[in-house]
Amino acid sequence: MKFFVDTADVAAIAELNDLGMVDGVTTNPSLILKSGRDITEVTKEICDLVDGPVSAEVVATQADAMIAEGRKLAEIAENITVKLPLTWDGLKACKTLTDEGKMVNVTLCFSANQALLAAKAGASFISPFIGRLDDLNVDGMELIEDIRTIYDNYGYETEILAASIRTVNHMKEAALIGADVATAPPGVIKQMANHVLTDKGLAAFLSDWEKTGQKIL
Ligand code: E4P
Repeated sequence: MKFFVDTADVAAIAELNDLGMVDGVTTNPSLILKSGRDITEVTKEICDLVDGPVSAEVVATQADAMIAEGRKLAEIAENITVKLPLTWDGLKACKTLTDEGKMVNVTLCFSANQALLAAKAGASFISPFIGRLDDLNVDGMELIEDIRTIYDNYGYETEILAASIRTVNHMKEAALIGADVATAPPGVIKQMANHVLTDKGLAAFLSDWEKTGQKIL
């Protein structure tokens, strides 16, 4: 499973990128607000840092304006993925922009039918939002499973990008189901390294080592 980082925090992306953990980045208007940076400036910086796709989201709601914004965002760098909301206008813009050879991430997907439409409109990525469904007491992972089945039934090449990931369990479940990509905040990716038995075991080894009175260096 590919890891995308869901943030516009350049330092956090750089730390994970140095470890080879970053296959791409996703941003959205809320994350740009959180960064306090200019969208073009910060997106360019991220694109220079990361080799993989970097999603930058349009804010227009009519297809023509979405297409114009998408073309402008795509000028920032070659690895820009234009992020479009899953609305009828968003699907129209998706078809036009993918026909032009641009990568498109269709976002705010909450149903398997929406995902089917995005695939037919040529989306490069579909972003089902797991955490926001879980917030409504709906199992977001079932949606990932349904989309996986539908895409595999018909051989759609649109990649399933599990989004709105909130926990390390979401990461494991997305990987088990076979999501192509998971996008998660840097903190969730780092938490994947944690285990209480690792901490306990390490403390015991270090305590025993001290008793030997030896040194390695
Ligand atoms: C995905 O591309 C979105 O930016 C993101 O995953 C949304 O997550 P949230 O529901 O935690 O805001």
